[in-house]
Amino acid sequence: MLFDALLAWLHFLCIFTLVGTLISELVLYRRVMDVARIALLRRIDMLFGIAAGLVIVSGILRVTLGLKGAAFYLHNPFFWTKMGLFLALGLLSIAPTIHYLRLPGSGAVVPEGAYRRTWAVLVLEVGLLGCIPLLATLLAHGYT
Ligand code: HEM
Repeated sequence: MLFDALLAWLHFLCIFTLVGTLISELVLYRRVMDVARIALLRRIDMLFGIAAGLVIVSGILRVTLGLKGAAFYLHNPFFWTKMGLFLALGLLSIAPTIHYLRLPGSGAVVPEGAYRRTWAVLVLEVGLLGCIPLLATLLAHGYT
């Protein structure tokens, strides 16, 4: 029982880090960025990637070692919808990462079109991230 609670705690810590890093990206990202802001954005994006990896690990631990047992999740469409949204989020996040890495490290004025696209992707990611806990709590409460 305590072990299951600790796994849940671990999963939450990873999720909070994921949300925090994504919101930080939204706040930091501007059309005109100096060298320090670009470096920080890249570092935060790397942390976002690490947090996403840890969410997966902690999530898999909850599936395999959690109290309810793997079968509970693997037969639940809400679980697979949650996985699908998380996968979509991961795929979406590739474009901003490539964009940040391609910015000149010495500072940049991002072209309007690229700026709007990246901003829209980040907002979409926040939206997806907001839907995932709903699916998680529906499946945790036994909805199928
Ligand atoms: C590969 C990725 C993931 C896996 C395998 C996974 C797996 C799980 C599992 C097995 C549970 C336990 C559900 C229960 O109590 O029966 C859980 C709970 C939860 N997960 Fe995830 N998860 C993943 C990603 C995420 C993400 C990205 C978020 C949020 C953005 C998230 C949010 C939650 C929340 C809020 C709960 C608690 C639900 C509740 O107790 O009401 N999970 N997850």
